[in-house]
Amino acid sequence: MILVTGGAGYIGSVLVPELVAIGERVRVVDTLWFGNPFPPHDRLDVVEGDLRHPDPAWLEDVDAIIHLAGLSNDPTADFAPELNSESNVYATRQLAELAAEKSRRTGKEIRYIFASTCSVYYAPTTADEANVTVMTEDMPIAPTANYSKTKRLAEVELLRIADQHPLFVPVLVRKGTIFGLAPRMRFDLVVNVFTLHAWKNRQLTVHGHGEAWRPLLHIRDASDAYIHLLSAPSEKIRGQAFNLLHKNYRVLELAHWVAEVIEQRYGVEVRVKRDRTGNAGARSYYVDGDKIKNTLGFSADRGVTEAVVSIWDALERGDFGLEPDKDPRFFNIRWLKETVMAGAPA
Ligand SMILES: NC(=O)c1ccc[n+]([C@@H]2O[C@H](COP(=O)([O-])OP(=O)(O)OC[C@H]3O[C@@H](n4cnc5c(N)ncnc54)[C@H](O)[C@@H]3O)[C@@H](O)[C@H]2O)c1
Repeated sequence: MILVTGGAGYIGSVLVPELVAIGERVRVVDTLWFGNPFPPHDRLDVVEGDLRHPDPAWLEDVDAIIHLAGLSNDPTADFAPELNSESNVYATRQLAELAAEKSRRTGKEIRYIFASTCSVYYAPTTADEANVTVMTEDMPIAPTANYSKTKRLAEVELLRIADQHPLFVPVLVRKGTIFGLAPRMRFDLVVNVFTLHAWKNRQLTVHGHGEAWRPLLHIRDASDAYIHLLSAPSEKIRGQAFNLLHKNYRVLELAHWVAEVIEQRYGVEVRVKRDRTGNAGARSYYVDGDKIKNTLGFSADRGVTEAVVSIWDALERGDFGLEPDKDPRFFNIRWLKETVMAGAPA
């Protein structure tokens, strides 16, 4: 049985059906902030639960954990720093301690695949546009933003627990920014929101200088990588960090590419507008993705074009309602403010 925490979120909503389709038994534990995207299935157990208060019963029959739960971007982490620390560090550690203890008791390995992020590579001091540093997994990192700092702290906790428990097998998956269509959709990720704005306004806006580099990853490649890691040899992955990306894009070039895809495919002209006020979009990091290819033979080959087309088609079909840009469910920060934390002190 595979435990997928946060499995009802954006990535989980693609990964979990894939796991079920290949014959796995899956338990999802999720606060279900965005609802339950799954139809019932006899190999799928969806538990509404908060990882901050873990129940050891969630680990019954479990031999691998894919840990996706937590706050999943900068704006939510900045808005609710305490919830961010509790969910992203404390909850990650508690679940790992339960899993490690189980591995000791049963004498069987437990794999703990952790959803980390390439944004751990960003620190204001590394954002030198003139000299792009290509970040590899073995470089020293010191993230400063709430979100990436807690992801890094969680990584450190997992490695510490692994030092004490030889059968506990953590692996740190530092994913680039995801794009692509999913049953539980997010429109607060760069390619997805560019496509939404192009569809809605025939215009998309690049905030900040637009020269920033970002590593990007198709949601189906993220899902495939998790599945790949479930069966990779333990000795190759235990305690390892892997960057996971298709490639690095400059945000401005990406905007033009999205516009180009739409123009070519649908004959719709999309204007790319620059908004140079503020420093939104200024975060820049350029990440090397070779280690996972060289070590495990996995490569994330899907590009942006297919994702733009499938999102556009879904928008045309009305899959996300008539005004998805106004629906807070698709934007984590709005959803957190308007529902999850409504009434709670910020
Ligand atoms: N989407 C990306 O671009 C991206 C990139 C790199 C890393 N990641 C990481 O991958 C993971 C999944 O991302 P996503 O885009 O699917 O995010 P998401 O926000 O769509 O999903 C997160 C899920 O976790 C659940 N959750 C939050 N706190 C919880 C708690 N305390 N207990 C139980 N469930 C809880 C939410 O209900 C939600 O379903 C996150 O850890 C994120 O940080 C995402």
